[in-house]
Amino acid sequence: MTSSTLRLVELGPDDGLFPAWCEVWAAGQRVDRPGEPPRPASHHVALGRQLVGKGGSQDGTHRAALVGDEVVGALRLIVPLKDNPTVAMLDLAVHPAQRRRGIGSTLLAEGVRLAREGGRVDLLVEVDEPGPGTAGRAFALRHGWTCDLLETRRDLLLPVEEERLAALEGEARRAGRGYEVVMWRDRTPDELLEDRALLERRISTEAPHGDLPLEEEHWDAERIREYEASSRARGRTVVSAGAVKDGRLVAFTDLQVPLADPRRAHQAGTLVLEEHRGRRLGALVKTAVLREVAATLPEVRRITTYNFEDNAPMVAVNEALGFQPAGRLSTWSLRI
Ligand SMILES: CC(C)(COP(=O)(O)OP(=O)(O)OC[C@H]1O[C@@H](n2cnc3c(N)ncnc32)[C@H](O)[C@@H]1OP(=O)(O)O)[C@@H](O)C(=O)NCCC(=O)NCCS
Repeated sequence: MTSSTLRLVELGPDDGLFPAWCEVWAAGQRVDRPGEPPRPASHHVALGRQLVGKGGSQDGTHRAALVGDEVVGALRLIVPLKDNPTVAMLDLAVHPAQRRRGIGSTLLAEGVRLAREGGRVDLLVEVDEPGPGTAGRAFALRHGWTCDLLETRRDLLLPVEEERLAALEGEARRAGRGYEVVMWRDRTPDELLEDRALLERRISTEAPHGDLPLEEEHWDAERIREYEASSRARGRTVVSAGAVKDGRLVAFTDLQVPLADPRRAHQAGTLVLEEHRGRRLGALVKTAVLREVAATLPEVRRITTYNFEDNAPMVAVNEALGFQPAGRLSTWSLRI
């Protein structure tokens, strides 16, 4: 393909071209992970509005690669505003029918240019790897990226066998005696908000992040509310459980369920404060969420989670629950 036939345009989530931009992602996901519903366009729109809107914790921009009037490639660049001032996150996709023609490389060059323009020097990308030999990995290696973090994806089919769940729950209750389990949905109770912000700050440094050039994220009550509003805008309900001791939240877990198609849920952050570890609080909050989901969202058939392989305690909890490996997620960085 000659560069004269390919052009890049800036677009926003409410532009006429945006549905075609979203379709590039969906077409790729249908080929790369067949049998799995791709992320709905509404998700990209809501994230896009958050990124281009003012006052949030991150900024962002979108580009479409066009051949004639057809959108063949998509780029989204996200820059954190409250922390990590060197970093930009790049999402890149090329329509499966248009791959190996240099479109990804052209978009990458544009992403590098935009990131530099914004004063960023570390570019990060995630590559979903359902199996070996993914295009994303070959592309990243070809462009000299470094793989800084490799996580295993695990899926859990619901419902969990009652015997298995009850055993883990019983063990966790015994080990976590003295801790109260609290549940909430979509909105962290006001009295736990500051503690929740502390837990998020800890996640950003204590959840294993390999060699990624990331520093502690700045989380406060306002950012928790922003995250909650963004989940609602993306059409997700978030089921959370926390462990409370002496009125303080010391552990929590979030499960995100897309309301338009609740069959597949995503296990998001889980953290136990360091001084409260070793009491099975991770299992306590996770089993509490599973009970809640079984009671209130029985449509959920599968939960997906990602674990750093060296995170033995988290992997152990997930395996005890019956999670099974389902590919990998790699995160790469490029110093620009
Ligand atoms: C990764 C992706 C963006 C590449 O887009 P693309 O337009 O095909 O990329 P390019 O044509 O610019 O490829 C540049 C080089 O990367 C390497 N490469 C790309 N895809 C490859 C594949 N499937 N197998 C082996 N090498 C590959 C090659 O060296 C290629 O050069 P060549 O075609 O001259 O041999 C595209 O496959 C995609 O959308 N994948 C799914 C989303 C994804 O993984 N995004 C993360 C990107 S880091």
